[in-house]
Amino acid sequence: MGRTLRKTLTVPKGYINEGKEIREIITEKEIYNKVKELAAEISKCYAGKIPIIIGVLNGSFMFMADLVRNLSIDFEVDFIKISSYGSSTKSSGTVRLLKDISADITGRDIIVVEDIIDSGLTIEFIKHRLEEAGTKSVKFATCLYKSNVAKQSFDIDFIGFNIPDKFVVGYGLDFDQKFRGLSSIYAFEEEV
Ligand code: PRP
Repeated sequence: MGRTLRKTLTVPKGYINEGKEIREIITEKEIYNKVKELAAEISKCYAGKIPIIIGVLNGSFMFMADLVRNLSIDFEVDFIKISSYGSSTKSSGTVRLLKDISADITGRDIIVVEDIIDSGLTIEFIKHRLEEAGTKSVKFATCLYKSNVAKQSFDIDFIGFNIPDKFVVGYGLDFDQKFRGLSSIYAFEEEV
């Protein structure tokens, strides 16, 4: 096997932390393979059921789109929008509901799709919101998981990649609204 070439990019002029370098930590191919694997696992787990797949906006849109395209089961989609970071790079410790779920989720099987679980605050909040509505079951899928940092009170069902506590961007994840469109995942080498 050849070595994977890890690309680097620099934060452009005019942005906070301009000039800092970001380095690719997960390639497009690695994401592609992992998404297929997770989708197969989810399809098996929900065979004969029609779950509602709830994406957590904004960051999850790319992972969610790739994931659902690889499912072999019937499903519905909905979205919820939560704010936990504001525009800084560390979790603010507070969570606000910016857009609630629209679907009737009572008695339904739910899969929540996240781009990243960092402190775990966001999904802890979402779990309570869903349970209040009397869902039949709730499971969580995340592309990235900071296992050394996440402190939610329950296990995550479908995890793409365990990553260290670095600030990451790309594949839906932003830094000050930039870099969401990158097809792979990059990390800042230094603290930002
Ligand atoms: C990010 C990310 C998760 C959440 C994870 O969202 O998309 O939803 O933070 O952090 P936590 O585990 O510490 O709660 P953010 O609030 O940055 O919004 P965005 O998805 O619109 O970028």
